[in-house]
Amino acid sequence: MTEIAATANRQPSTVNRQPSTVNCQPSTVNCQLGRSLIALGVTGGIGAYKAVEVCRGLQTRGHEVVAVMTRSAARFVGPVTFEAITRRPVITSQWKPGMNADIEHVAIADAIALLLVAPCTANVIGKFANGIADDFLSSLYLATKAPVLLAPAMNSNMLAHDAVQRNLQTLAARGVRFVDPGEGYLACGWIGKGRLAEPAAIVAAAELVLAPPDSVLRGRRVLVTAGPTYEDIDPVRYVGNRSSGRMGCALAAEARRRGAHVILIAGPTRVEPPAVDGLVRVRSAAEMHAAVMAEAPRADVVIMAAAVADYTPAEPSPRKIAKSEGPATLTLQRTRDILADLGRLPSRAASGVPILVGFAAETGDAAAKAREKRARKQVDLVVANDVSRAGAGFEVETNEVTIVGPDGDRTLPPQSKGQVAAAILDRIEPLVRERTAAPVRA
Ligand SMILES: Cc1cc2nc3c(=O)[nH]c(=O)nc-3n(C[C@H](O)[C@H](O)[C@H](O)COP(=O)(O)O)c2cc1C
Repeated sequence: MTEIAATANRQPSTVNRQPSTVNCQPSTVNCQLGRSLIALGVTGGIGAYKAVEVCRGLQTRGHEVVAVMTRSAARFVGPVTFEAITRRPVITSQWKPGMNADIEHVAIADAIALLLVAPCTANVIGKFANGIADDFLSSLYLATKAPVLLAPAMNSNMLAHDAVQRNLQTLAARGVRFVDPGEGYLACGWIGKGRLAEPAAIVAAAELVLAPPDSVLRGRRVLVTAGPTYEDIDPVRYVGNRSSGRMGCALAAEARRRGAHVILIAGPTRVEPPAVDGLVRVRSAAEMHAAVMAEAPRADVVIMAAAVADYTPAEPSPRKIAKSEGPATLTLQRTRDILADLGRLPSRAASGVPILVGFAAETGDAAAKAREKRARKQVDLVVANDVSRAGAGFEVETNEVTIVGPDGDRTLPPQSKGQVAAAILDRIEPLVRERTAAPVRA
């Protein structure tokens, strides 16, 4: 069987640990590439276990997280879990010896770019609304000038109660933002509204709050492709590749964080796609071609991060091909070249829009091949990566790329795919500024 299925591949943990104290100086805790320190408040609801995934999601997008747990939260999930994930001490009390040399809640209040509370109990909503500061989290809320985002979660009757609704309105009037709870099965056995929003939606909402307000991508239409394609040989076999879809998903998430209207066209990837404005699922290179060509004329930017098959079986069989002794021969034919077809769009000749970004996954001398590909296919940027290197390319969470553009090559050090996505979009933004002087399309 020719199947090469995409598999989730965890990165080995790195040995690059944070110092054992929370360093609250904004200049040292804020990461590069506009990444931020986020205080993740975790409170005493059943959904507290989902905060672990929220924490991971924020980190994979390059944010630093300091976890602040209420006493009740620590009954639901162990602080050790957050300590190991964030690689920082978890704040569970304001009374720990050594914590107040620098009045910790004030120091953290100054350093954070966002206070996110997920899940947020009725109790904490009430405390925030009424200015009660009887623990670290509620003191932090009063002390910080950073934006505040709450993901409430509770039983439907609690949520509907006048007292809770009034507290929510008070907070909304004060500029606090919310990730609305969803409907569904609640831990108390009820079915109704009150369930904690999905971690991916909470992470996307946090990124929207943190989005740089002056991004030229705000309101622009960005089309991103992600993942592999599968070319069917017969109903049970296919030709595929090892792309996980992580790089495309990171690009879609980053473009959305910058305020773009993002359409993600995803091949059969097992990676959960980020929250986007439109998600189109495809399987084969032909389906990918059709979906991209249908969306591209309305796009300001097209980023082809998907690993689209170059060849497809010439005569896929409608029935499972029976095995026989001796070798088998599979005849493959070329698929349509999506990037080259995009390069020939009439609007490209007229205005250079959509701006086109391709990827070149090569084994050896990737940058030279990318330069050649850029010229041949008339695209604006080609992101080259040598997939034979450890920690780069398919299936891993990091990447090491060279961005080849009109003004030369730029090789980036190995970093997370979220950070690579930010660097690629930093390179796209000036092109958008040059070519799309017109206001954003409706
Ligand atoms: C099993 C269990 C589940 C709970 N789930 C929630 C919940 O989802 N939302 C909520 O507002 N309170 C929930 N509570 C009640 C809170 O734990 C309680 O109000 C607590 O005082 C909250 O403390 P905190 O807000 O400081 O974390 C739950 C309690 C228990 C025992």
